[in-house]
Amino acid sequence: MDERSAPLPYPSGWFCVGRTRDLPPGRVRTARLTGEDVVLYRTRRGAVRAVGPHCPHLGAHFGAGGTVRGEELVCPFHGFAFGPDGSCTGSPDGTRFRASLTKRHLRELDGALFVWQGVDGGPPTWELPPEVGVRPLAWWSGEVLSHPQEVMENSVDFRHTSVLHGLDTRETAPPEVDGPLFTIHQRTTTRFPGLGTVTLEQPVTLAGLGMFRMVAELPDLGATLRVWVLPTPIAPWRTRVRFAVTATVPVPGVGATRAVDRAASWLALQASVRIIKQDRPVLAHKRYLAQPRLVPGERSIGLFRRWSRQFYPACAVGPAVPLGPVGPVGPVGPVGPVGPVGSLDQEPNPVEPSPADPNPAD
Ligand code: FES
Ligand SMILES: [Fe+2]
Repeated sequence: MDERSAPLPYPSGWFCVGRTRDLPPGRVRTARLTGEDVVLYRTRRGAVRAVGPHCPHLGAHFGAGGTVRGEELVCPFHGFAFGPDGSCTGSPDGTRFRASLTKRHLRELDGALFVWQGVDGGPPTWELPPEVGVRPLAWWSGEVLSHPQEVMENSVDFRHTSVLHGLDTRETAPPEVDGPLFTIHQRTTTRFPGLGTVTLEQPVTLAGLGMFRMVAELPDLGATLRVWVLPTPIAPWRTRVRFAVTATVPVPGVGATRAVDRAASWLALQASVRIIKQDRPVLAHKRYLAQPRLVPGERSIGLFRRWSRQFYPACAVGPAVPLGPVGPVGPVGPVGPVGPVGSLDQEPNPVEPSPADPNPAD
């Protein structure tokens, strides 16, 4: 599918291009965003930057052998160096030239790196919400033949969670819209191995179409579960979805330990991976319907679609979706048993490399 035939254009917003831990000082990496490469590097003092991939001298790709020297990015081809403001600062024989790197706006938040994708290359028009203060302990990444809006729409599609995922998830209040933020109120009842049946009642925040974040408290256990879903458009109708989890589970008499938190995060991640693996074939083969036939209980899908329109140029989206009939989300069939997390397919490698991805751990 090329960009013109895609049912939705690339959205604007902040999109994850990698993890903090994959970009230590001195490292250069290449990420993919909206059909283009973005080169990321961290200076020796720890500043992280994102730039267009090609050197303004003769076009070499910084991701193919570029290096960090102090606070500068050095091109592998003729050794021209570029400072923090993007300007040329020198070369092996001292020559400089007047040109600047194409700088991309970047934010580092919750252990992840986000690059701004503006409509027509414009600057950021909003900021990501403050970080939660805890970095993810378990990550998964994979590609989906879909669009970030379609991936995010899953969050408000409560009818599919019982049918496709066998989860008992209910909406407890209508979503709240605050500019680029969309807050969903929901309650999920599920089983965790060793913990029995737990009810998670937590708001989920969407920050644009690139970040889903949930912080759920489990008061009976004193535990906290944080889940991030980070869809990044990498090509027309192709999205890299990163899942990240941090579970904090205090052990009676011991308190929080990193080892227990890691194990709990890994188990919770497997539950999330199982869900995206159930969604993946449906998303890959479904057709995007600009005017879906929403039924009672699906008003939040209409609201989500209307909210999403702000991330596209006005000319790129058609008439707004009718909000659909008002009504509760009723039971739509028996909620199947939720299997223990331990029965999931184990991911031999939590991160699935894409053949085209130069950073397999990205
Ligand atoms: S192409 Fe980068 S220094 Fe020549
Ligand atoms: Fe789903």
